[in-house]
Amino acid sequence: MGWPYIGETLQMYSMDPSIFFATKQKVWRDIKTHILGCPCVMLASPEATKFVLQTHAHLFKPTYPKSKEKLIGPSAVFFHQGDYHSSLRKLIQSSLSPNPNTLQRLVPDIEALAISALESWAAAGTVINTYHEMKKFVFDVGFLAIFGRLEGTYKEKLKENYSIVDKGYNSFPTKIPGTAYHKALLARKKLGQILKQIICERKENKVLQKDLLGDLLNFQDEKGQSLTEDQISDNIIGVLFAAQDTTASVLTWILKYLHDNPDILEAVKAEQKAIYEANDKCKRPLTWAQIRDMPLTHRVTLESLRMASIISFAFREAVVDVEYKGYLIPKGWKVMPLFRNIHHNPEFFSGPQNFDPSRFEVTPKPNTFIPFGKGVHACPGNELAKLEMLILIHHLVTKFRWEVAGSQSGIQYGPFPVPRMDYQPDL
Ligand code: HEM
Repeated sequence: MGWPYIGETLQMYSMDPSIFFATKQKVWRDIKTHILGCPCVMLASPEATKFVLQTHAHLFKPTYPKSKEKLIGPSAVFFHQGDYHSSLRKLIQSSLSPNPNTLQRLVPDIEALAISALESWAAAGTVINTYHEMKKFVFDVGFLAIFGRLEGTYKEKLKENYSIVDKGYNSFPTKIPGTAYHKALLARKKLGQILKQIICERKENKVLQKDLLGDLLNFQDEKGQSLTEDQISDNIIGVLFAAQDTTASVLTWILKYLHDNPDILEAVKAEQKAIYEANDKCKRPLTWAQIRDMPLTHRVTLESLRMASIISFAFREAVVDVEYKGYLIPKGWKVMPLFRNIHHNPEFFSGPQNFDPSRFEVTPKPNTFIPFGKGVHACPGNELAKLEMLILIHHLVTKFRWEVAGSQSGIQYGPFPVPRMDYQPDL
């Protein structure tokens, strides 16, 4: 447990987290310690992860700092447990499912956004910050899934205020005017007002649009109760947040891994060139069947998700005393299933530091590959994220070449891991 109160926080933050956990795991498979003043159990075994996130999920609640809850909105799906949570999560998942009326319908528009993003980087004729550019692309796709084709002025206003909230999200939470967090709180208020105007117009027009906003407006629980405007706004902002940095950092890693592994890049190019030729050199759009039949490219996305493990762990709190394999997890203790450690454990993935998509020719052992989480809170946007990756890779490798500028190795956190960048292009 380390020192009183501070526990092992200093060790954890002063060394590579993988080494911190690995040293402990040699002794204990699952670990208990103190992080940031909280007694905490860290779970690095697939069985314990399944126990917390799936089979005994009702004994553990998600926990987030209040300052972050305020910026997203307290009714967002990931802050909840129980009936409200499960019906909302089902709604989001079905709105983003790979069906003809949902994701399949979005393919031409996502393709257009991918092409336009790639062409703009090439036209810039200079070094770009991949992560920042990917964030813009992912944001536009998120917008599309939520609002369909939204009127330009609304889009600009939402973008502007959202980016202020985004900047303040990881800053020190204080209400002192002029600070990033305070600016973010003000921008969050404006976002709520703009979203209310959009909701109001939709209600007045009485047009049923097939997008996430349409589904949220149509929602009724088993008692016939609809969602309030605040609940809808909080969930729209929640989805945009959950989608953006996650997908953007995986896309950034994909570019880096393909760049660093020229043989794999050539094989991916060959797979994608065949589709490119079949579509008359991109004159015809990608079909759903083509996207579902990119076996190597698909394995590249899975291996990138494993290697980068951009969500390193989930964070829960025991709501009662829980017994696991004869050990007590006291009520109120934090519980962290460590996805990254499972993904990098040589027992489950041999040579875990090697980028090797062929390992996914065989299905991983149960509960060892969990980039989108598991159980009741597992990611409802995973199909959309995978779709974005496949579409972007198709257009990237068939039409463009790229080089890494500056550092060739290292990781930086922002807060998700992205390749280290010494070179700072103009933004
Ligand atoms: C590569 C991209 C992504 C990764 C790696 C990822 C990963 C995850 C993980 C691990 C969780 C579970 C967290 C936990 O158990 O505490 C989660 C939850 C969630 N994700 Fe994703 N995600 C991605 C993209 C997306 C996208 C594109 C969307 C929506 C458009 C989305 C929406 C959500 C939502 C709403 C939740 C909360 C679910 C709940 O609490 O019930 N994510 N994601």
